[in-house]
Amino acid sequence: MENEKVKRIKTYIKGLDENLQGGIPEGHIVLVCGSAGTMKSSVSFNILYNEVLNGKTAIYITLEQSCASLLKHMENMQFDLSKINIEVLSDISGTNGIAKKVKLSKTGTLIISDLGAIRKKMKNVKFGASGDWLGAIKNLVGKLKLESKCDLFALDSLAALYVLSDFEKPRAKIFHIFEFLRDLKLTSFILSEMPLDQSTYSKYEVEDFLADGILYLQLAKRYRKVTREISIVKMRATDCNTNIFSLVYKNKNFQAIYGGKTPLIE
Ligand SMILES: Nc1ncnc2c1ncn2[C@@H]1O[C@H](COP(=O)(O)OP(=O)(O)OP(=O)(O)O)[C@@H](O)[C@H]1O
Ligand SMILES: [Mg+2]
Repeated sequence: MENEKVKRIKTYIKGLDENLQGGIPEGHIVLVCGSAGTMKSSVSFNILYNEVLNGKTAIYITLEQSCASLLKHMENMQFDLSKINIEVLSDISGTNGIAKKVKLSKTGTLIISDLGAIRKKMKNVKFGASGDWLGAIKNLVGKLKLESKCDLFALDSLAALYVLSDFEKPRAKIFHIFEFLRDLKLTSFILSEMPLDQSTYSKYEVEDFLADGILYLQLAKRYRKVTREISIVKMRATDCNTNIFSLVYKNKNFQAIYGGKTPLIE
């Protein structure tokens, strides 16, 4: 009964939402895990894109790729970017201006920011552990949330943040990041690059149990054929099906198909 009251955000993956009681509970922090090229960015972007189409406002922070490279990829994936309001934050000193604009907008907005934009704020700081990257990201997200009522957030990726910041006490810092997002009540997607041996979903493992949900993307090799796969490792407050589905991207839509015990190979 309680679950009926839970508001859910769709994954916009046909076949997966049906196995997730309709979607991810609002306010959840979800790890999107997978090795390189498993479509972590595309799957997360797709959720934010569709939510923005429905009038929500979302923040996508890309630390791995520049905004231009991310948008180029999404255009190649045939996302119609002209359908949504996109604000590229090229310098985080401009956050106030964007927040105001977004607040006044009658439609939803996708706010995108990259490493370059954040670095500009951190004068004299080069790559490496010396800068408070986490602090800068927290400031940016906190300000946007408070001043423009954002609903969703994606951090692409945790691995990139670890490279930038030298976390002295990583577990405590990670706990702090999750608490920060929980307090802001943002439905969050934290992209986590997994090692190729796929022994853990995240670097320090605490991420796994701190997260409310884990979406796992993988490339499965069978007879020299590689298939994309997706599964829900966990989703709190949700009766979910943890089967491994084939992940197909066709006609501008993601689809999760269950092929039974024998996986689908096109
Ligand atoms: N139009 C398209 N249709 C289907 N797949 C595509 C299309 N364009 C690109 N791809 C594939 O998408 C994959 C990359 O997707 P994405 O960047 O979302 O993955 P990722 O897991 O975020 O990768 P990375 O590890 O580089 O961050 C590439 O392997 C590419 O072949
Ligand atoms: Mg990516």
